[in-house]
Amino acid sequence: MKNSLVKEGKAEFYASLEDKISKKLNVFYNPRMELNRSMAVLLIKSYFSDKAKPRAKPVRIALPLAASGARGIRIALECPDVSKEILFNDMNEDCFKAIKKGLKKNNLAFPVFKEDANEFILKQRPFDYIDIDPFGSPNPFLDSAVKSIRNKGIIAVTATDTAALCGTYPQACRRKYWAVPIRNFLMKEIGLRILIRKVQMAGMQYDKALFPALSYCSEHYFRVFFHVRKGKEQCNRVFREFKHLRVDGLDFEARNNPEKACFGPLWAGELNDDALIKEMLAIAEPEKDPGKLLKTLADETETKAFGFYELHEIAKKLRTSPPRIIKVIDKLREKGFCASRTHFSGTGVKTKAGLKEIEKIIKQQQQ
Ligand SMILES: C[S@@+](CC[C@H](N)C(=O)[O-])C[C@H]1O[C@@H](n2cnc3c(N)ncnc32)[C@H](O)[C@@H]1O
Repeated sequence: MKNSLVKEGKAEFYASLEDKISKKLNVFYNPRMELNRSMAVLLIKSYFSDKAKPRAKPVRIALPLAASGARGIRIALECPDVSKEILFNDMNEDCFKAIKKGLKKNNLAFPVFKEDANEFILKQRPFDYIDIDPFGSPNPFLDSAVKSIRNKGIIAVTATDTAALCGTYPQACRRKYWAVPIRNFLMKEIGLRILIRKVQMAGMQYDKALFPALSYCSEHYFRVFFHVRKGKEQCNRVFREFKHLRVDGLDFEARNNPEKACFGPLWAGELNDDALIKEMLAIAEPEKDPGKLLKTLADETETKAFGFYELHEIAKKLRTSPPRIIKVIDKLREKGFCASRTHFSGTGVKTKAGLKEIEKIIKQQQQ
């Protein structure tokens, strides 16, 4: 199969361009994952920038599942204020060749490896940034990644097995993520929180605490960037945020102790680092997808809310027509509550106001 020259961001690279995206492509490239790659670029630009304080050593970046090399070439070209060393790896021979060709095309010189991802990570460690972007679950690569990340580094994880995490296949979730998923309006947020806990469990075995710096779900995948902090105390901080979800109709609560009909365990702490999101937002183009997503994530983060309320379902329960989401948010803010839309659902509201308050507002709006 012949590869095509593809352009994304500032990069040009070689990949299989087919109408049907599948694992079988000899040099895998999914144009729908551009947002995923753009967020990595923005995060690296913000988190590792040495504009304010130059670093003693370049940032060591690992792309163990690099495919066409698109992500790494973009990082190389689009993060000029980060001094960096990027190591590309893919065990597929065609990918290995395509990455080399892509680097040459962009006048870049970085090492390229053709090994099993775990061997590559363990042999070339340590790293400041490791990007695990596999087909399906990141599980097979977590152990080597957490062993090989430096203190204060970042581990980025993609999971495309959303059917397990969102409760279509609950047994697969139990098996792979050691947690019970939910299959209702909260399934995406709960799936993301279950994934986060699983990655954190891998880190804690080595006294490495992984705090979500940025997490989101988009189309068919989950994505989380973790800050890594070494030490038992930091791990205990993570552990304290492992909770269970209790659901009562359209209401819910994160609890310390499991009981009957509980979901999880899951990470009940913050999904995003407020300060980092603001920095990324400041350099993102507001009208493009990463800028739009970051704005919603920044608003969500401000509410400090676990879960969200689904207005259409609440209206249905109240036997009334669905309210305009913006009106409900405005009303909550008028009453002194922090409230925002959520990227998890077009009809969801994040707030700590509680279900009763939202029901009251919906009823008042119908009068
Ligand atoms: C989802 S693609 C990666 C996409 C890429 N990160 C991007 O942004 O376009 C997964 C890649 O991992 C490679 N791969 C799968 N298992 C691997 C393993 N155990 N070791 C090394 N490479 C592997 C595949 O050849 C494929 O190119």
